[in-house]
Amino acid sequence: MKLFVDTANVKEIETLAALGILDGVTTNPSLLAKESGDYRQILKQMCQLVQGPVSAEVVATDTEGMLREGRDLASIDEHIVIKVPFTRDGVRACKTLSSEGQRVNVTLIFSAAQAWLAAKVGAAYVSPFVGRLDDIGTTGMNLIREIVEIFDNAEFPTEVLVASIRGPIHLIESARIGADVVTAPPAVIDQCFKHPLTDSGLARFLKDWEQAQAAKTA
Ligand code: G3P
Repeated sequence: MKLFVDTANVKEIETLAALGILDGVTTNPSLLAKESGDYRQILKQMCQLVQGPVSAEVVATDTEGMLREGRDLASIDEHIVIKVPFTRDGVRACKTLSSEGQRVNVTLIFSAAQAWLAAKVGAAYVSPFVGRLDDIGTTGMNLIREIVEIFDNAEFPTEVLVASIRGPIHLIESARIGADVVTAPPAVIDQCFKHPLTDSGLARFLKDWEQAQAAKTA
C-alpha cells in the first residue's frame, strides 16, 4: 500500500519526504487555502519534493470549468493528478480528461456506487472519505471493503485511495483490506512513529551500553 500525505504545507512534505516514506501528496481547496503564496508554485515544489503523484483539485463546479482548470493544473508538472468532485459534472470531466491521458482522482466518494461510476469513466484514483463517514455514526472502513471487492471483481485499474484518515488504525485497516493508497495527515503519520515500548527499549539499550563502557574503563 502506498502512503500519501494529505497536506498543502511544503515544509511538512519536505520533512516526510526526507524519511523516504512518501509516495505522493493529496491536497484539497481547504488545505491549500491555509497556505500563503502562489498555489501553482506550491504545487510545483511539492512535485519536485515527492517525485510522485500530487493531487490538485479543481474549484469549478461545471464540466467546462473543470476541464479548463484541470488542464491548467496538469500543465504545472507531470506529477499532477487532477482531482474532481463526484458530481455529474465531475464524472463528465473525468471521462474527458482520462481519455486525454490525464490521471484523475475522483474525490468526495461516500458510497460504493459512486466509486463504481468513477471507475467506469476512467478515474485513476477514487477517494472515499472514511473519517467523515465515522463522524456521522457509520463505519467508514466498510466502504473500503466494498470498493476493494468491487474493483477486484471488475478488474478495474482504478486505485482505491483511502482519505479522511483520523488515526493509525484507519491506515492499518486499509492495508489489511487491500486498499492501494492511504493519504494521511502529517499528525497521523507522526502517531505511527510513537510507541512507549520503543522509547523505553531504546533508553534501556543506551543505558546498558553506557554502564558497560564505564565498567570497562573503571
Ligand atoms: O483530502 C481529503 C480528505 O482527506 C479530507 O479529510 O479530515 O477533512 O475529513 P478530512
